[in-house]
Amino acid sequence: MINTELCDMLGIKYPLIQAGMGPYSTNRLAAAAANAGALGIISTSGFSYLRRPNVEKDPGLSDLARTLTDGKGGTWYEQMKRAFYRVKDATRDAGGIFGINTMVAAEMSGLAREVIRAVIEVRDEDPEMKERLRVIVTSAGDPLPWTDIIKPSGLKWLHVVPSVRHATRSERAGVDVIIASGQEGGGHVAWEPVHTIVLLPAIVAAVDTPVVGAGGFGSGASLAAALALGAVGVQMGTRFLTTKESDFPEIHKDYIVRGSERDTQVARGFVGPLRWVKNEAAIELAQLTVSKAPGLYLGQPDDMSTVAPEVMAKENEGFDALFRSNGPKALMPAGEVAGIIDDIPSVGELVEKIMKEAEEIVRGLPASFIRD
Ligand SMILES: Cc1cc2nc3c(=O)[nH]c(=O)nc-3n(C[C@H](O)[C@H](O)[C@H](O)COP(=O)(O)O)c2cc1C
Repeated sequence: MINTELCDMLGIKYPLIQAGMGPYSTNRLAAAAANAGALGIISTSGFSYLRRPNVEKDPGLSDLARTLTDGKGGTWYEQMKRAFYRVKDATRDAGGIFGINTMVAAEMSGLAREVIRAVIEVRDEDPEMKERLRVIVTSAGDPLPWTDIIKPSGLKWLHVVPSVRHATRSERAGVDVIIASGQEGGGHVAWEPVHTIVLLPAIVAAVDTPVVGAGGFGSGASLAAALALGAVGVQMGTRFLTTKESDFPEIHKDYIVRGSERDTQVARGFVGPLRWVKNEAAIELAQLTVSKAPGLYLGQPDDMSTVAPEVMAKENEGFDALFRSNGPKALMPAGEVAGIIDDIPSVGELVEKIMKEAEEIVRGLPASFIRD
């Protein structure tokens, strides 16, 4: 069996992380991933929608709200905490290990602070939670301002980075595992694109902290490749999204299954560049990016104070269309790995298939290539 330092550090069976993905909940998905022996991650960005008044009565948002909540009401903060408890209950029999993901971009730091407070609270309230909600994954921002809050909590801290510079900064911040996320990935990608095949070994060479690869992983072969490049495991978003248990809408899964490796498009999203399924909405957003936020394609970041409001309005429109299952108009984050995804398996089947394939490849390599 393939087992790495990541497994020992987090207490998981396999060196696989199910990526945090918003705005849909990943409550069911996180439980299924944890039960299958991977690290399940509860995404928290969607809970911010529950701050809107009467969200459960809004026909556009009711589907999203249904995936996030248990329908018993309360503040968004209470509902989020109850979601953590539901995942804990759903993983009790298998003793699954899980964590939460929050973006620490300047635009989202208020929300991130609340999310981290909730995680610390539930762990303090409940010894079983402390035992199994072990991880926080931060992303899309500078880790250094978060050291004083996260390090004393006892959580294992994973931080997502797009460059060697961000990786060395994460090491300084005291991050336990660095997730090197390349440009192939679904959702947020970097202003200055570097692809996983270069990024991952560059970061492994630059830091002493264990490194996980992300962006483009979806098979046993790519897990074996990541291990060969020096990673202790992989994080997968798009591949886990396209499973039976995933809380994402069917149209999102269908686009990924039908798409080829050329069917994604990078355009301006809420916290910078995002990789989307290439449909009508993503092409329109890319055209708007070219005319209103061209710095994105030149590696020049802008921020919420300078980005054209039309771009943000278009993204909101795209998510509203997703919540209403309007395929051509929906904005759906997804990675290039969509090109090798052609099924919607259960999470358990997927994890076992990936681990079996990776092990066969790792065992078979010397026999295939080494000539003494
Ligand atoms: C639908 C979707 C939503 C995502 N949402 C988030 C998010 O809210 N926060 C975040 O840090 N990363 C987000 N990501 C990025 C993933 O955490 C992960 O790094 C990425 O999916 C890895 O690339 P892959 O899709 O090729 O596996 C999202 C990705 C997808 C596909």
